[in-house]
Amino acid sequence: MARMFLHIAIVILCVTFVKSTSQDSRLNGIYALVERRLPFHRDTFNFQLTEGDSDSFIISDSAREVSNRIWWCRYIGPGHVFINCRPLPLQLEILELEVQSSLIDIISILYTTAFYDFEQWSLLLDWLSLRGVNLPLAWVGNEHFIVEVFKELGLNDTSISDFLSGPAFQAWNRFGNIQGSWGGTLPYQWIADQFSLQKKIVQRMVELGMTPILPAFTGYIPRDLSLVYPDASVVKATQWSSFPSSLTEDTFLNPFDPLYSKIQNSFISKQIEAYGNVSHVYTLDQFNEILPSSGEPEYLHNVSAGTFQSLRAADPSAVWLMQGWLFLISPDFWTLDRISAYLDGVPGDDNMIILDLFSEAFPLW
Ligand SMILES: *[C@@H]1O[C@H](CO)[C@@H](O)[C@H](O)[C@H]1NC(C)=O
Ligand SMILES: *[C@@H]1O[C@H](CO)[C@@H](O)[C@H](O)[C@H]1NC(C)=O
Ligand SMILES: *[C@@H]1O[C@H](CO)[C@@H](O)[C@H](O)[C@H]1NC(C)=O
Repeated sequence: MARMFLHIAIVILCVTFVKSTSQDSRLNGIYALVERRLPFHRDTFNFQLTEGDSDSFIISDSAREVSNRIWWCRYIGPGHVFINCRPLPLQLEILELEVQSSLIDIISILYTTAFYDFEQWSLLLDWLSLRGVNLPLAWVGNEHFIVEVFKELGLNDTSISDFLSGPAFQAWNRFGNIQGSWGGTLPYQWIADQFSLQKKIVQRMVELGMTPILPAFTGYIPRDLSLVYPDASVVKATQWSSFPSSLTEDTFLNPFDPLYSKIQNSFISKQIEAYGNVSHVYTLDQFNEILPSSGEPEYLHNVSAGTFQSLRAADPSAVWLMQGWLFLISPDFWTLDRISAYLDGVPGDDNMIILDLFSEAFPLW
């Protein structure tokens, strides 16, 4: 990840930045945040940005004082989650704070946001920004590309709808745990609306100096793809959480099949065309609470190698981000040999980020 150290002379707010945006637009994003959340103080803030060379995160005593006030600002109001900043009754003072832009803070945004509108997203993104989150998941709009890609391959609406689950179930549908009508058929209008919403979300993330983590093609496909491509190398995922086979056991296209790369390229190219060159980090989980069809180390290696190659072919700077949750939840399957085989499919040591979820209780790293 890009390493850059920033000194920011600020009043009250702590905001993080990434290298990719110009200095002016980074500051515009912070001023816009102040305007949104502390409108009575919009003329009181003066942000400056300078580059330094330190490699560590330093927070000075005066900065802590700033933090305390941010805390106060965050938790005031009726909600226990969102910022509800009020005009500060204090005399504002100039304080200095250093923020390292390479801090990686990630938040998983899947279960609760299926019906958020942009106002709610805007509030959430400002809240993330105030907490220093600079690498948020940006899953919204995924299904727009899924549908486009499968249509391009010759699948009809029925075959595609048979694969997609309702909005509130997308978290599991996207990971290949479930398929089909969970909570009803996924309305195409929802897909279109989410795509419009995501354009605003991505733009706002970039304004706030964040790098969105975008989705990629995982390998899970409508069952009917095999009818259109009878030679495709496909396997069935395992049943998830004892739900009926017809609603789980998603079809998985083996990533070493050339068709996989073709789909990945189409998915990622369409995404870049829609959002611009805003990120090279892709979230991609294949065996979340389900097992690969074979435990043979060579197979596992081939799966991840094919997946990574497809990402790099579509985006030469691609970084693969995955959750480590699978290793924790299925320890009988994921022996050290198999973990090693799967992870070693990705060359080098800075091409993959593994989220050690739940590491406060069961650290895996
Ligand atoms: C959609 O495609 C599938 C698979 O090719 C086919 O079986 C089905 O009849 C098609 N449905 C429609 C409505 O065209
Ligand atoms: C996208 O960004 C990467 C580096 O972040 C750069 O190498 C590449 O040329 C950019 N592509 C376009 C089309 O701007
Ligand atoms: C793994 O990939 C290699 C090279 O493409 C191939 O020869 C081999 O049969 C594959 N093995 C498995 C188990 O998929």
